[in-house]
Amino acid sequence: AAGVAHEINNPIGYVSANLGTLSEYAADLLKLVAAYEEAEAAIGSAAPQQLAAIRRIKQDVALDALRSDIADLGSETGDGLARVRKIVQDLKDFSHVGESRWQFADLHHGIDSTLNIAWNELKYKVDVIKSYATLPEIECLPSELNQVFMNLFINAAHAIKTRGEIRITTGADVDGVWVEVADTGCGIANEHLPRIFEPFFTTKPVGQGTGLGLALSYSIVKKHNGRLDVRSAPGEGTVFRIWLPLTQGAVVAA
Ligand SMILES: Nc1ncnc2c1ncn2[C@@H]1O[C@H](COP(=O)(O)OP(=O)(O)OP(=O)(O)O)[C@@H](O)[C@H]1O
Ligand SMILES: [Mg+2]
Repeated sequence: AAGVAHEINNPIGYVSANLGTLSEYAADLLKLVAAYEEAEAAIGSAAPQQLAAIRRIKQDVALDALRSDIADLGSETGDGLARVRKIVQDLKDFSHVGESRWQFADLHHGIDSTLNIAWNELKYKVDVIKSYATLPEIECLPSELNQVFMNLFINAAHAIKTRGEIRITTGADVDGVWVEVADTGCGIANEHLPRIFEPFFTTKPVGQGTGLGLALSYSIVKKHNGRLDVRSAPGEGTVFRIWLPLTQGAVVAA
């Protein structure tokens, strides 16, 4: 993904630079047009036919609309480019190639970039509501935790049939931090609840789920000496709660 990100960044760089130059040129040309317009009265008395021709062209190209459109087009294109840049940055953060090492990281940063990557799957039916506390950085494998968040977000989106909410709440306690991902989806049947962390347990049609998402998430949280819990009310929704310790390996058994 880092390689792809680099490939995308390169053309984005010169497209942005060219857009900037084009906008300046367009502004220069409009300045020139304005100067000609000032001269129209003089042209009219000396060369009425030319003036009529100029006025026709002005109408054909809808000069006034064009003038205001040019600025809008420039800034919209700039916004689009900024979004692409952001997505590329998020992809880099998400994959963190070569950074699969323990480090202190801000969980909110990982949650936010994972949300951006999952956005296409979420945007049509999910309202995301964040309620973030102030969190200390924790010692973790950020890219692996991003996979956990991704699994939870996608599962939540799958559980929501038409329209619903994903509420992300975070908090800290004395020796750790927690993240809750709550959805207003279909919920989990009581008889399924004990099985959802089993590898290959899925209620999804063949080809739509392998049943590995939560098993993988569970093992990643375990590796962090954390906990992954669930509570669910069928028909109302589901809450996954991740708790993670602040540091690794500092806990010595008494
Ligand atoms: N938020 C949720 N709401 C309702 N049911 C859920 C939710 N999350 C998980 N489940 C249930 O737990 C099962 C296992 O989830 P898991 O993520 O492990 O596998 P999957 O989503 O079925 O497939 P995969 O993640 O491998 O694509 C799901 O099939 C679903 O029945
Ligand atoms: Mg899943």
